[in-house]
This record gives sequence, C-alpha cells and structure tokens, in this order.
Amino acid sequence: MPDSATRLPAPAPLISDSPAWAALAARAARPEARAIRALFAADPGRAGRFTRSLDDLALDFAKTPIDAATLDLLLALARAADVEGLRARMAAGEAINNTEKRAVLHMALRAPRGAGFRADGADAAALAQDEAARMRAFVEAVHAGRIRGATGEPFAHVVNIGIGGSDLGPAMVVEALAPYGRAGIAAHFLANVDGAAIAALLPRLDPARTLFLIASKTFTTQETMANAAAARAWLSGKLGEAAVGAHFVALSTNHKAVAEFGIAADRTFGFWDWVGGRFSLWSAIGLSIALALGWDRFAALHAGARAMDEHFLAAPLEGNLPVLLALIGIWHTNFLGCTAHAVLPYDQRLARLPAFLQQLEMESNGKRVSRHGQALPYATVPVLFGEPGTNGQHAFYQELHQGPQIVPCDFLLAAQPDHDLPAHHRMLAANCFAQAEALLAGKNEAAARAEMQAAGMAAADIAALLAHRVFPGDRPSVTLLYRRLDPFALGRLIALYEHKVFVQGAVWGINSFDQWGVELGKQLAGRILPELASGPHEGAHDSSTTALIARFRALRGEG
Ligand code: F6P
Repeated sequence: MPDSATRLPAPAPLISDSPAWAALAARAARPEARAIRALFAADPGRAGRFTRSLDDLALDFAKTPIDAATLDLLLALARAADVEGLRARMAAGEAINNTEKRAVLHMALRAPRGAGFRADGADAAALAQDEAARMRAFVEAVHAGRIRGATGEPFAHVVNIGIGGSDLGPAMVVEALAPYGRAGIAAHFLANVDGAAIAALLPRLDPARTLFLIASKTFTTQETMANAAAARAWLSGKLGEAAVGAHFVALSTNHKAVAEFGIAADRTFGFWDWVGGRFSLWSAIGLSIALALGWDRFAALHAGARAMDEHFLAAPLEGNLPVLLALIGIWHTNFLGCTAHAVLPYDQRLARLPAFLQQLEMESNGKRVSRHGQALPYATVPVLFGEPGTNGQHAFYQELHQGPQIVPCDFLLAAQPDHDLPAHHRMLAANCFAQAEALLAGKNEAAARAEMQAAGMAAADIAALLAHRVFPGDRPSVTLLYRRLDPFALGRLIALYEHKVFVQGAVWGINSFDQWGVELGKQLAGRILPELASGPHEGAHDSSTTALIARFRALRGEG
C-alpha cells in the first residue's frame, strides 16, 4: 500500500461519464457518422470551414467525418476534461507527471527567460538558457576548430550514442534538415545494442576526428552504456587512454554517473527531470543537431517550437491546431473505432518522423489506466505507423484504400522543396493530394464498370473483376501543408505533435509523461543475460522461453 507521501489524489470521474462523451457516442451511432462525401455535398464551403492555420501552416481536416455539431461536441469534451486547466498546470510547473512526481516543462527549453515557466521556484527557461549558452560556446568552438581531438585534428564526425528519446528526435531532425547542414561535420546515430550497428559504424570513422556524444537522461540505459563502453575501448585502442577525455561528451541529468564514466564536468551538458526523454531534443540531448546544423539553425528550430507553444497556450480551442489534431484523433479512435493511425510525410527527409512519433505518441499515451490508476473503459492511443510518400503507396496503401480497417491518415507536405528538381516536387505533391482525394472519393461500382467498359473489356471479365476494382471511399485524412521544411517549420511541426499528445492524454485522463510499460522487459533481460552463459534456470521461465534459451545456446555450440 502506498504511504501518505506517495498516495495519489482521489479518483476523478472518467471522461466517458461526461454528457459530451455520451452525445458524441450518440452521434457516432448514426448510420451516416462515417460519411464524409455527403458532408462535402451538403456544404460547398466545407474546405474553408474545416481548415485552420498558423501563419503558413494549414491543417485541413475537411476530409474527416466531422461536421459543425460534432466539432462543437469534441470541443465540449475537451472542456469537460479541463484540457485548459491541465495546460495551465503544466505551464505553471506543477508535477502533472504524478506517478514520477515531476513537472513537465519542455516548453521552457524554447522560451525566453522570464516566460513564466517555474521549476521548484526557479525560472526554468533561465536554467535552460544558461545551459544553452554553454552548449553554444562548445558548438562554436568545435566549428571554429578551437576545440579539437587529442591529436590536434578538427572534428569531422559526431556520433550520438543514445536510444529512444535520446536518439529518435535528434536523428529525425538531422536527417530532415540535411540541406541546412554544415559542411565538414557528419553526424551519426548509434542506438541499437545489436553489435552489428557499432561494428558497421566504427570502420567509417577516423578516430582522430571523431567526437562521441553519450546521450542518456539516466546514464544507466543498457544499450547506451554498452555502446559507449565499446566506443571508448575503440578510441583508446586507436589513440591511447589519455585521448578519451578529448573525444567524449555527456548529455545527461545524471552527473554522478557521467563522472564515474570519466567524462569531465566541462564536457557534460545537463538538463532536468522536468524534461521527458521523448520531449528532450530541445535540451542538451539536441547537441548533435547543433553540431550538425550550426547554432543558428538549432535556435530557429526552437523558435518554431516556441511559436507553436505560444499558439497552443493562447489560441481559443476552436482555432488551436494541437487541440484540433488531438480531437480529430479522439473522434476516430474512441467513437469510430479506428485502432491504427498512419503518418504519411510526402517528404523523404521526414523518413524518421513516423518512428519519432511512435515513441512520442505510443510511449506517452499507450496506457490503460487513468492518472489515478483506474482501469479505463475506452481506447487510448492507436497504433501509429508510416512511411514517406510516395514509397508507402507501393507498399501498404492497398490496405488504406481497400482493406477492412479504416486507418485515418496524416498527410504532410511542404509547398517549396529544398532542391532544384521542380518537376519532381510537383509529382510528389500531385501524389499527396491524389491519395487523400482517392481515400475520400473512392470509386463506386458504376464508375469501375464504366472504366472497364471504356477499356473494351469483355462482360465476363468485368463481372469477375468488379468487386476488386471498387474503392469504398469515405476514408478520413488530414493534410498539413506548409511553405518549406526549414528549421523553423520543423520545430513548429514537432511541437504541434507534442501538444497533440498532451491534449489527448488530458482528455483520456492519463499521465502522458511516464513509461512504466518499458520496465518489465528490461528487468527480464537482466535476468536472462547471465542464463545465456550458464544455461536457463529450471523453472525460472515459461517453457517456451526456457527452450529458446537452450536452443540459442545449442546453435552457438554452447549448450
Ligand atoms: O526505455 C524507454 C526510455 O526510458 C525512454 O523513455 C527514453 O527516451 C529512453 O529509454 C532512453 O533513456 P535514457 O535517455 O535515460 O538513456
């Protein structure tokens, strides 16, 4: 039983008991609830009425089965869940991560001093700015060649060793902003404990010109510590133990463990427990971004996120992009029964965005109990997946168009590319708009038959193929369209999804900022690791796991 110090507040009523939830459920039960084409037919001004924007960023959600009455009810649901109250408590630095007793202040990382974000009475943005000033001095010294490797060579390779939130955000951003990268610095990301990853990377590096960033909030994560130790052994083998200090940097909240690893305080950049791992790319964890792109671009990324923060904190709910994106998802998930969600950037540079969002959304909101520990009688986060367009079209879009499940999609597109192939970009854009239109419009039997007749097909072949060539349509999507994928726009986009996650968690009544679900596997891996050497302990596991350990050892000639 929890003692009084750890006891959680009394259970709150569940959002599914609210009148707004009941009204939405009733609306979803109408036969026409999934019809989108009918909404277009009934309202010539639908596109304008169901598009909201922030500067050049537009969110078009006209192609969802949401009409004015449904939208009003979704907004009422957000109000019933007191999204605005929780948002204010988050900004005020309250420990809204109640299971870990932590504030949630990633917004302070991109705010000016005095912006009002307080952490234990201190100005959280000022703390962040002070650390950012240290990072900036380091980055600029590396770029200017004032900080060099042990043999006096300037750095040409930066290797970020981290996993999860200490990898996905920086890796996604560095790839997305490659056209804005600095010449002369190649950033690499090493996450997996699979030795194949580091074995493939090390031969590509010049030890004298390589800087390793050990990125770990806790500095205890097994994969990161194993890779950090291997990198250290490799470097000291090549350049000598005395060289290690010049080639390693730590990005962590755990200064004690960093010191034990042997990284000096002036090569350690810190952050705070009020920054969740999956929200940490704005902190010291983003050092690889600043090294790869330059400080000004890292600052522009922050400025974009800050612009979205200001919008999220101030805009009325009906025009608030993160709130709307969240509510659209809730309509699909909780009322229309959709269990998957596709993120489809028509932008090769955003290839890692789905992976980043998988952690952001599924680690945050993949919960089945409320923040007070009550079992939830409704779904939370859908399974998120995605690939850049047009690649995905030739892979899983078949299911999106004709499969039995309805999978709501987010299409993302920049109007202007950062390359000199305008014809390519027009083809890309045409495909993006076409896919969303095809999902909506579908193709009925009459159209499919007419098409085959026009192609001169025999009646028997038409009859045999007709069912296969029908597209049901009325499949929902939103489109995010913006001018250009520059650092500012990317920062704004990431913050949009961060706040979407917050709003959904607030409505679902869950704590979006813990991740207890990752612990059990870690514990069991710790138990199994020695058994791979000694053999499985009888009765320690289910028979399948025991047999697999034994078979693994036998295949290695160890059993
Ligand atoms: O295992 C999950 C997790 O704790 C994530 O939440 C986190 O982003 C990742 O591991 C890495 O953690 P750390 O930065 O402490 O190494």
